[in-house]
Amino acid sequence: MEKIIIRGQRHLNGSIRIKGAKNSILPILAGAVLNSSRQKIVLKNAPDLLDVRVMLRILNSLGVTHRWEDSSLELDTSNVLMHAVPDDLMREMRSSIFLIGPLLGRLGKVQVTYPGGCAIGPRPIDLHIKGLKALGATIWEDAGRISVKADRLRGADIHLDFPSVGATENLMMAGVLAKGTTTLYNAAKEPEIVDLQNFLNSMGAKINGAGTSIIRVHGVDALGGTVYRLIPDRIVAGTFMIAAAITGGQIILKDVIPDHLDAVIAKLRETGVEIVSSDAGLKVAATGKLQALDTVRTLPYPGFPTDLQAPMMSLLTIAEGTSLIIENVFEGRFKHVPELRRMNANIFVEGRTAVIKGVPMLTGATVETPDLRAGAALILAGLAAQGTTKVLGVHHIDRGYEKIEEQLKAVGADIKRIREP
Ligand code: UD1
Repeated sequence: MEKIIIRGQRHLNGSIRIKGAKNSILPILAGAVLNSSRQKIVLKNAPDLLDVRVMLRILNSLGVTHRWEDSSLELDTSNVLMHAVPDDLMREMRSSIFLIGPLLGRLGKVQVTYPGGCAIGPRPIDLHIKGLKALGATIWEDAGRISVKADRLRGADIHLDFPSVGATENLMMAGVLAKGTTTLYNAAKEPEIVDLQNFLNSMGAKINGAGTSIIRVHGVDALGGTVYRLIPDRIVAGTFMIAAAITGGQIILKDVIPDHLDAVIAKLRETGVEIVSSDAGLKVAATGKLQALDTVRTLPYPGFPTDLQAPMMSLLTIAEGTSLIIENVFEGRFKHVPELRRMNANIFVEGRTAVIKGVPMLTGATVETPDLRAGAALILAGLAAQGTTKVLGVHHIDRGYEKIEEQLKAVGADIKRIREP
């Protein structure tokens, strides 16, 4: 079993380069199967994450082959013959649900099991199912398996009840090879959706409107290969910004798109952190005492991202005053709270609201992460804490951060990964 051991209270200093976004590459890998030509797909700036490896194993099981060359990932999608996603792989990752749209477009049928992924409350897929039905798919469930069939999907108008990121992406991809135009209303506006649109368009799709709440997908007959560079991961960038803030350090982030981080930058500035964007990168410097925040509300983009709620909470545990966090996107995304309490944090939770009373200092403890972003939050807390923190459940963190301990060590953290029985 792997653990991360941190000896806290070192000021971080240095620069960190941000790789491509997990939440871009996962739907993009799924969307790659829409290309039935012999032309290759090359993804530049691809992060080597556990979730990416699982998605590649799923694609391999369907007939796709791949090859890494540094951080370029080349895919040959000419031989996709299988339409059933293996149960064990499907359970490992919720994002495998994205495969329904593209596989339906490519093969006209798909079989998947109910998706797995982070244990952050109930994560239904009703919006995906409703949208696919509107496009003409027949869907039935049998013994935990979902089967979807359609000879050729037909474009339709789809109103999403909630701007779900995954449903928006799945339905965009289903619409690419459909007959006619698919219009998504109340679509999610995340930068990763724009990235997916740009990727699919570079293969020959005709999509516009991503980044706004109305997306139009004009169906085409076939897609080809592409060479495409992924956008940087704004959640990883945000995590390292908070790392600088929580340790009273200074970090320059290279290869970030500051616009994608507007909500995070605004909140960090309110805590007293200095953030400057220049040609050299995004500089985050914390010198004075951190101040509490009246309220942080997680919301769909461009609101404050739910994926940085737990990391932000770690920061607020040592800010001066009382802060409020309201988690509007996912139910049950406060599983890091009992772990932070072991480290001396003072947090009270009622429903979707957490009240955080800043304490002068966190203390090191053995903690176990329940999910990916909670894991990042616990590492951040460990960086600030007095003494030693052991973080268990490291595989969750590897799903979305590439060797996080090496990146933090390179900027001065006392952190290592150990393997213990
Ligand atoms: C994506 C991100 C994840 C991020 C989340 C919200 C990826 C791979 N993952 O997850 O990191 O935390 O967006 O920004 O991109 N919902 C329904 N029915 C559905 C679909 C969703 O009720 O059919 C609900 C969910 O339970 C949740 C909310 O909508 O409460 C948001 O989920 P969604 O935007 O779909 O998140 P994901 O795509 O799963």
